[in-house]
Amino acid sequence: MARPYLFLLAIIATIFSPATAGLCNFWDTECVDPLAQTAISITFPPLFLESINFYYAFDADARGKGQEPMTKAGFWIGYEAYVNNSAIDINRTSEIAVRVGNLTGTPSGNNNGCDGVWGSDCSMNLKNYLRQTLFDLVTSGKSYQDPLRTVIGSFRDNPPPVKNCPPPLFDVQRFPVEEFAVENEEDMTAVIKKTGNSDSPWSTFLIDNMTAAEQAEQVAVGIITRTPMYGSAMPRTQEEIQLELVCAQAPSPGTSSSSDD
Ligand SMILES: *[C@@H]1O[C@H](CO)[C@@H](O)[C@H](O)[C@H]1NC(C)=O
Ligand SMILES: *[C@@H]1O[C@H](CO)[C@@H](O)[C@H](O)[C@H]1NC(C)=O
Ligand SMILES: *[C@@H]1O[C@H](CO)[C@@H](O)[C@H](O)[C@H]1NC(C)=O
Ligand SMILES: *[C@@H]1O[C@H](CO)[C@@H](O)[C@H](O)[C@H]1NC(C)=O
Repeated sequence: MARPYLFLLAIIATIFSPATAGLCNFWDTECVDPLAQTAISITFPPLFLESINFYYAFDADARGKGQEPMTKAGFWIGYEAYVNNSAIDINRTSEIAVRVGNLTGTPSGNNNGCDGVWGSDCSMNLKNYLRQTLFDLVTSGKSYQDPLRTVIGSFRDNPPPVKNCPPPLFDVQRFPVEEFAVENEEDMTAVIKKTGNSDSPWSTFLIDNMTAAEQAEQVAVGIITRTPMYGSAMPRTQEEIQLELVCAQAPSPGTSSSSDD
């Protein structure tokens, strides 16, 4: 009588399949079953005609690999992806980088909530510093692929201090970067990454020794850029590097929330 046994296996397989059930095992890096999730609506003109939503979510495991608690963070952008093709005059690439850890505060105010976390001076200095660093890369003449990924990667060994900003800003375990829009000047089209959700976040990462309550106090920082690609017309000023900051907190474990800062 093998049949009832097979039937049982089939049910278990269905329950643990994230795509169908909306449940996601903690160790599955392809999805996140949000204990807490938040969405921040931001505008990113001129390429995106409508606002786009930055999503940040996390799950927690009280025991982790052994004794220490762990969390799994995930992020993605949700959008309709209506693009202004007239805005595509050179090849550009858009990327998002996200960091979580050793940074608490209360998102509010300008720069999509970041000013409330670290003050407007830090936001201004950080944006100028990142624009300048991207500008230097793009105008260096050296070949590059994903400019934001390249720049964030270059911070790994020597995290740069940014005036008026919290010291651990770039000193963090993980700082994943995802490319989400690639513009082609020849036919004025853009290839846009598929919108994300908790069943298919753009990136997930585990954080050691972090409880759910601690993670709820953490601020997730997103850096979103739109930068000329290698081989395209070089920008003349750093103002031509487009850059937005976003700061989000997934407030109390077990609840979902969204805000429109
Ligand atoms: C689309 O982009 C062009 C060129 O930047 C701009 O002139 C136009 O106003 C934009 N259209 C909309 C609807 O934002
Ligand atoms: C927080 O800082 C400590 C000490 O520098 C470091 O060991 C830890 O990895 C950091 N946490 C995260 C999540 O980056
Ligand atoms: C975990 O965090 C606690 C409190 O923050 C600290 O005392 C402990 O040393 C950490 N353990 C490891 C293995 O990092
Ligand atoms: C722009 O991108 C398209 C598509 O990848 C490529 O064929 C073209 O050579 C690029 N143009 C420049 C100036 O790099």
